[in-house]
Amino acid sequence: METISSIHLFTTLFIILASTLTTQCANKVSETPYQEASTVFIRTSCSSTSYPRLCYSSLVKHADLIQTNRVLLTGTALNVTLASAKSTSAVMSVMAKRQGLKPREVAAMKDCVEELSDSVDELRRSIDEISHLRTSNFEMTMSDVQTWVSAALTDVNTCTDGFQESAITIDGTSTKSSVRGLVVQLAQLTSNALALINQLANSHG
Ligand SMILES: *[C@@H]1O[C@H](CO)[C@@H](O)[C@H](O)[C@H]1NC(C)=O
Repeated sequence: METISSIHLFTTLFIILASTLTTQCANKVSETPYQEASTVFIRTSCSSTSYPRLCYSSLVKHADLIQTNRVLLTGTALNVTLASAKSTSAVMSVMAKRQGLKPREVAAMKDCVEELSDSVDELRRSIDEISHLRTSNFEMTMSDVQTWVSAALTDVNTCTDGFQESAITIDGTSTKSSVRGLVVQLAQLTSNALALINQLANSHG
């Protein structure tokens, strides 16, 4: 049983890491002028984020949806971040229930599970709110979304910090690096989404 669940766990981790890598190596296919306008728009918008390459690679596959629309760009960045938060949270929940963790490690994992669950709620709320964005409620909506995504970023960073302090070894394998990698990428996606939200907020001046 123990072995089977370990294999299952590592398969899950592997699939998540592999799909993350695939995302970053998206093939370059020939583009119509319209798609090119969109990819230029995404690249330009991403250039002022802290992790421009991750920003670009995570959004360019949605270029057809985003077109050159700043609201759709921001909404897509939030959706991508929410998907990452959900999968990272799921992996962390599995990890927190593993046998053989030291009490300190279990505590760090459980804190992370809670922080990631809060960040999922905050991102969901932001996505719901931004889907009702109108000229009439623009400032109020953007201010709410900035508040929630900032809170999500704090939660994710708190989880990352907890991980720095504990090297977690399971079944003789250090899983710290792979799980921590997921949380770090989530933190970067969240930071980028916040930068795009700030760009959108400043675009109506
Ligand atoms: C984000 O996800 C929601 C829920 O799945 C969807 O309704 C919305 O169209 C998405 N937004 C963008 C900009 O893709």
